[in-house]
Amino acid sequence: MKIIKVKNYDELSKKAANIIASQIISNNSCTLGLATGSTPIGTYKELVKLYNENIIDFSNVKTANLDEYKGLTKDNDQSYYYFMHQNLFNHVNINKNNTYIPDGTIENPDTACKSYEEILKKLGGVDLQLLGLGHNGHIGFNEPRDTFSLETNCVELAESTIKANARFFESIDDVPTKAYTMGIGTIMKAKKILIIVNGIDKADIVQKLVEGVVTPNVPASVLKFHQDVTLIADEEALSKCTLN
Ligand code: GLP
Repeated sequence: MKIIKVKNYDELSKKAANIIASQIISNNSCTLGLATGSTPIGTYKELVKLYNENIIDFSNVKTANLDEYKGLTKDNDQSYYYFMHQNLFNHVNINKNNTYIPDGTIENPDTACKSYEEILKKLGGVDLQLLGLGHNGHIGFNEPRDTFSLETNCVELAESTIKANARFFESIDDVPTKAYTMGIGTIMKAKKILIIVNGIDKADIVQKLVEGVVTPNVPASVLKFHQDVTLIADEEALSKCTLN
């Protein structure tokens, strides 16, 4: 795993956007795997800036998002569909028919997950996957468990994830308890992976990710087995690593 240490969130967002921009410039019809959560918001802002400066062109880019809450409609302002449109898709020249997000409104998990895997296959896989990191080590919505999940699956969100994400909802009772997420196997198929983490509250989990063992109890730890992973983290997030 290549680690890029940055001073702060601004620097992290610029670095991450530059890496994604370089992917788009080298292959303008690439497939980007995209993430939600608060961490990538700055990265998306920087990508919009690069687009406005005519440095990158999204017209042939395809995107596939990691996950979506089960039960939220597209117009729900907490859905990841809404998030992606608000933070990126509405501000660049991407063809929205080339953007894919698991459909949270499909009631049957089997149908929802199989159809998303089909989409990913048709896209021919992900060239560059962007990831954030949950406090418990989750990537996408793959919570700690006994084995690594393989394909897109329906997960029960961990209590700690529901609590962490409650800040975006009116009350904790509004946070969905289930989500559809690309599996760990799906994520590991990406050609390149870029994981971005900031803040002191992520220092413990970053230490486990960087220096701990590979275990499904820390789902992100599996990234150590991937050939091309870059972690961009700020000084606070890296503060508990001995490499400091
Ligand atoms: C959410 C998302 C993840 C995200 C994580 C961290 O639950 N499903 O994809 O990486 O939480 O979010 P944040 O960046 O807000 O800390």
